[in-house]
Amino acid sequence: MAKNRIICTKNDVDYLSIRKAMTSGARTVDELVETAGVCTECEGCKSELDAILSSVCGCKNVSLEAVVNAVKNGADTVEKVGEVTGAGTGVNEETGEPCGKCKGLIQNIIDLGR
Ligand code: FES
Repeated sequence: MAKNRIICTKNDVDYLSIRKAMTSGARTVDELVETAGVCTECEGCKSELDAILSSVCGCKNVSLEAVVNAVKNGADTVEKVGEVTGAGTGVNEETGEPCGKCKGLIQNIIDLGR
């Protein structure tokens, strides 16, 4: 699970704001410009946006591509996506509790099919 930090230093956009935008449907850098307000020009944007966009579950290291493929292959609930990919099944290392922070994004991927 990634801790929150500033990604776009020019516009002061943090990691959680970017993940929130993804949970609302942003899948490309251009969509993150519109929804999260990233600049795309600072070092943080250049070095981190592609990796953030391509990852769904940091706990289980599951990519967007893997989740989209699972959905295309019939996984139509967050639980089914978790069974197929492991996404959403991580545990918070500090508390030992289920993490599930990516479940909103998984649901959005199911809803949008992308
Ligand atoms: S990010 Fe923790 S379960 Fe996916």
